[in-house]
Amino acid sequence: MTDYILHLYDLPSAESIVVSTRRIGVEIRRAMGPEKRAVCGWVEREFEVLSWVSECEISFARVPVSCFIAIAGGAVIGFHCYEATCRGFTGPGGIAREFRGRGIYLALLAETMKAMQVEGYAYAIVGSPNEATVRAFRKLYGSALVEVPGSDPGWLRGMVRPRPPEGLDTKSENGYAPDLDRG
Ligand SMILES: CC(C)(COP(=O)(O)OP(=O)(O)OC[C@H]1O[C@@H](n2cnc3c(N)ncnc32)[C@H](O)[C@@H]1OP(=O)(O)O)[C@@H](O)C(=O)NCCC(=O)NCCS
Repeated sequence: MTDYILHLYDLPSAESIVVSTRRIGVEIRRAMGPEKRAVCGWVEREFEVLSWVSECEISFARVPVSCFIAIAGGAVIGFHCYEATCRGFTGPGGIAREFRGRGIYLALLAETMKAMQVEGYAYAIVGSPNEATVRAFRKLYGSALVEVPGSDPGWLRGMVRPRPPEGLDTKSENGYAPDLDRG
């Protein structure tokens, strides 16, 4: 999958999507260090992609934590990281199944891009995003998202994956699946 670059200067405001997310009772904010186990544990249970859990953990090793979370009723329902794999990279992220299709990921992306911009990044690199991620970025930022020619296979080529325990089907949905659908 190809990488994309998003320039962070002159981005159109996405405040309305953040406000509408707030109206449905979802708070979006930067995660805090003490929440590492709660957030990374949730990512593991919800998505079962161990590489995402690893990246999420990296985002908690940094101050400020480079993971934004969506919260509803006191529980984590979404996450999006940056600076978890390479400098300037954004992702991975995801939303709990039962909360999808309500604009929550758009709001998470918007808040994360705003934070990156404030931290001094001129560009965000969207590493090997899946289709849904590209659609979400395009919906927010249109042509500011630019495909990087020749970036497939990208940085993660040759990545070593966890070995499944003895006798386990590698295609099972337990996090050992060879799934690198990310963004
Ligand atoms: C990809 C994923 C994060 C999207 O989450 P989501 O919360 O459903 O995304 P949103 O609701 O913000 O956007 C989804 C759609 O609803 C639309 N939408 C819903 N409410 C909206 C609103 N208030 N305003 C504008 N658009 C809205 C979005 O435009 C988007 O349209 P699309 O169907 O053309 O894509 C989610 O499907 C997921 O977690 N998938 C598994 C993990 C994954 O693939 N992560 C990405 C790679 S790291």
